[in-house]
Amino acid sequence: AAALVPVTAPLVGLTARENTGEVAPPEPFTVPLAVPPVLRPVARSSSTDYYEITMRHAEAEILPGVRTQVMAYNGLFPGPTIRATSGRRVVVKQTNAMHHDAVVHLHGGIVAPEHDGHPMDVIAPGQSRTYVYPNRQPGATLWYHDHTHHMEAEMVFRGLAGVYIVEDRSEAALRLPSGPYDVPLMLRDARFDDQGQLVFELGDFRNRNVQLVNGRVQPYFQVAARKYRLRFVNGANERYYQLKLGDDEEMVQVASDGGLLPRPVPTTRITMSPGERVDVVVDFSRYPLGTRLVLANADPDTTDIREIMRFDVVRPAKDDSRLPGRLRPMYGRGRGKPGAVDRERDISFYLDLEMQHFVIDGKHFDPDRIDMQVRKGDVEVWTIHNRDDQFGIPHNFHVHGVHFEVLERNGQPVSGHEAGWKDTVAVPIGGNVRVRVRFDDYRGRYLYHCHLIDHSTMGMMAQLEVVD
Ligand code: C2O
Ligand code: CU
Repeated sequence: AAALVPVTAPLVGLTARENTGEVAPPEPFTVPLAVPPVLRPVARSSSTDYYEITMRHAEAEILPGVRTQVMAYNGLFPGPTIRATSGRRVVVKQTNAMHHDAVVHLHGGIVAPEHDGHPMDVIAPGQSRTYVYPNRQPGATLWYHDHTHHMEAEMVFRGLAGVYIVEDRSEAALRLPSGPYDVPLMLRDARFDDQGQLVFELGDFRNRNVQLVNGRVQPYFQVAARKYRLRFVNGANERYYQLKLGDDEEMVQVASDGGLLPRPVPTTRITMSPGERVDVVVDFSRYPLGTRLVLANADPDTTDIREIMRFDVVRPAKDDSRLPGRLRPMYGRGRGKPGAVDRERDISFYLDLEMQHFVIDGKHFDPDRIDMQVRKGDVEVWTIHNRDDQFGIPHNFHVHGVHFEVLERNGQPVSGHEAGWKDTVAVPIGGNVRVRVRFDDYRGRYLYHCHLIDHSTMGMMAQLEVVD
């Protein structure tokens, strides 16, 4: 068994400097991008990779020269990246070294209910728990994060989130950019006090006006003049992104939540609601050395932060990666073509004014209640409504234990970038989105909720049960 290299240091070195006086976020593009380290397995067998992670309170240098208290997987903000292989199991022993409960959920992972990180299925302080992830799913960008009952918004905000990549052989055969040219970029916002400490209040999206990428404030990233695969994860509690590169430069989307799209989708704008993932290939060889390209948030509803990060093209490099015209067929490899629809449902998300609660179908989350039963193998079409047009509150829809196809938004077919397998989808204010879903894998209880996780923490979450 390979020895685990203990990852005890935060992502960047702490400085000895005391927190004195007021601190402010750095100017944009003054801090280099950090890429979270890939976690090494503690052991491997013919079928399984074993990992160990400790959740603990730690200090991270998010603002230069300032120690910020965070909650972190192995003390890293964000957590280490796990690179799994499709068809090989991953077993993660999670130890809770904090003084309160924690729960770990693998977002986008098709895992048995008992390993899914149900909000009540907690790891008590000082305890460990072993999560089993079969990875019987094609390559995709997933992420793992806290899901503790009524605490997920705060615990994710304080740092309990990390990227989990499933790789697969047929994907590798496509020769998309890989190795150092395959880079996860976890986007989120944050709010700091004048001592550089995180300030968390539920529903406080207006004040979270510091933009982070992989735990750094608006970093710059020195890239080679060649193709890169960038794996964007919207890890923000409530913020939407509409990614825009430079002066509307082309990005080619190759994957969404569930992995590769049928074919590449060139675009200049990528909309991401919280929890969604988008992989793009950007060819920096189109630009002369010295070019600087700002990645901005062009979301018309976002006015506080525009600049996300900057790509600086600094060196030539050879490039034998490719961008084939076909990536992965929609159906096949465990994702069968759906037959006739067995059942239609409507699911409504809104703020209940009388109850002062975010609700789904009039009810706020109750871990002791099953809200719907779904027959394993049935094809269902769900129309998810956002009924908060009066207040203009955005919501999105996320379901555990399955990937779905997005059929329509407000009656229109969705365009190429949402035409792949998804687990999280934006629901337009006052409108709806229709998804086709079929639970093929496990029986048992799974969650569905709004992934603006302040909303889910405030009750906008429900449970389904997959039955025979
Ligand atoms: Cu990203 Cu229920 O979670
Ligand atoms: Cu919501």
